[in-house]
Amino acid sequence: MAEDLTIATGTKQEQYEALIPQIKGLLEGETDLIANLANVAGALKEQFNWLWVGFYLVKKEELVLGPFQGPVACTRIRKGKGVCGSSWAERKTLIVPDVEKFPGHIACSSASKSEIVVPILFNDEVVGVLDVDSKELDQFDTTDQFYLEQIVSFIPFY
Ligand code: SME
Repeated sequence: MAEDLTIATGTKQEQYEALIPQIKGLLEGETDLIANLANVAGALKEQFNWLWVGFYLVKKEELVLGPFQGPVACTRIRKGKGVCGSSWAERKTLIVPDVEKFPGHIACSSASKSEIVVPILFNDEVVGVLDVDSKELDQFDTTDQFYLEQIVSFIPFY
């Protein structure tokens, strides 16, 4: 397939609905994890232009920075620390409308105001998280949760 993304307009739901088949197309036939995570981060960043979109992968007892789009970020996060480490420990999506009000939030970028972190499960284990940051307060809701949880489930981890 051509590697150009068609950027959708409309409601957030319409944008996700237009993006999902394209993400499936990008993942189709590709088994390399880094390539797939890189393209998913790229597709989400291109469609929504969030401040930061990327992955942290569980390696031993830490989350380690993986493919991302946006400003440079902290490389290692311990289980239970920050929004990412809490999502890992609690095995659930965390929506943070105002990062300053999240106890223990790790400020990789002072421009980040709100955040959503989605855990990625494989064989019932958290293998990583998808982290999305916005420059605006209160940018994420259950629509993002619904679609981002779907998107991470398409990524083959093996
Ligand atoms: N804010 C995150 C750290 C990762 S950066 O936002 C890219 C956290 O509290 O876990």
